[in-house]
Amino acid sequence: MTDITIIGSGNMARGIGTRAVAAGRAVQILDRDETKAAALAAELGDQVASGAIQATPAGAIVVLALPFDAAKEVVTAYGAALAGKTIIDITNPVDFTTFDSLVVAPGTSAAEEIAALADQGANVVKAFNTTFAGTLVEGSVDGIPLDVFIASDSDEAKAAVSSFVSAAGLRPIDVGPLRRARELEGFQFVLMTLQADPAHDSFNWNTGLKVLV
Ligand SMILES: NC(=O)c1ccc[n+]([C@@H]2O[C@H](COP(=O)([O-])OP(=O)(O)OC[C@H]3O[C@@H](n4cnc5c(N)ncnc54)[C@H](OP(=O)(O)O)[C@@H]3O)[C@@H](O)[C@H]2O)c1
Repeated sequence: MTDITIIGSGNMARGIGTRAVAAGRAVQILDRDETKAAALAAELGDQVASGAIQATPAGAIVVLALPFDAAKEVVTAYGAALAGKTIIDITNPVDFTTFDSLVVAPGTSAAEEIAALADQGANVVKAFNTTFAGTLVEGSVDGIPLDVFIASDSDEAKAAVSSFVSAAGLRPIDVGPLRRARELEGFQFVLMTLQADPAHDSFNWNTGLKVLV
């Protein structure tokens, strides 16, 4: 039985897929291009299933490894097929035309917009938006396991995602209700601007946000 379905076959699908396989989870990759889904599945391991995006996601956890606009379209198109599922929104809704703001209005977040479009029987969780794709393949930066900040209005869904994150060798941090996604998205936007700033030439896409204790 499939545990985790990942929609998309790009960089984050590869990163989260790598961690899901490392966690011993049964994984399915769905993509609008079935051949790309099959190629990523083969790269991740023999047991990884794949298919077209039109297929009903088999996993209890569904990861939207898509740009924000595409995530909204896909959640809307799936409708009741996502009822009862835990949907992980990983998006960073950055306005790439200006690289100076998010495309979501103040007082909301990409995660909340996706939740409003999703079947009301699904639970949306914000997670993995502060972990860069390359670091997920390793699971760590300089040997330090990544932190995964998790926000949702469903304790059950947060527990399911935390369990996956721990099994994948990462540290889950429950940051509260889904509206905390506003801060997680803003938080990561700041890091992205620092990485793009030549004044910080030692920063790169292999950095990570971490709470040190
Ligand atoms: N990259 C990172 O380090 C990172 C870190 C944290 C969060 N994120 C977030 O993760 C998400 C994915 O990023 P990524 O780096 O994995 O992007 P990516 O490598 O460009 O992959 C995006 C995937 O989405 C698919 N897609 C695009 N538009 C679509 C549509 N309209 N309908 C269906 N599928 C569509 C693409 O399919 P095609 O190949 O056919 O175009 C591809 O499989 C983004 O929201 C990003 O903000 C990224």
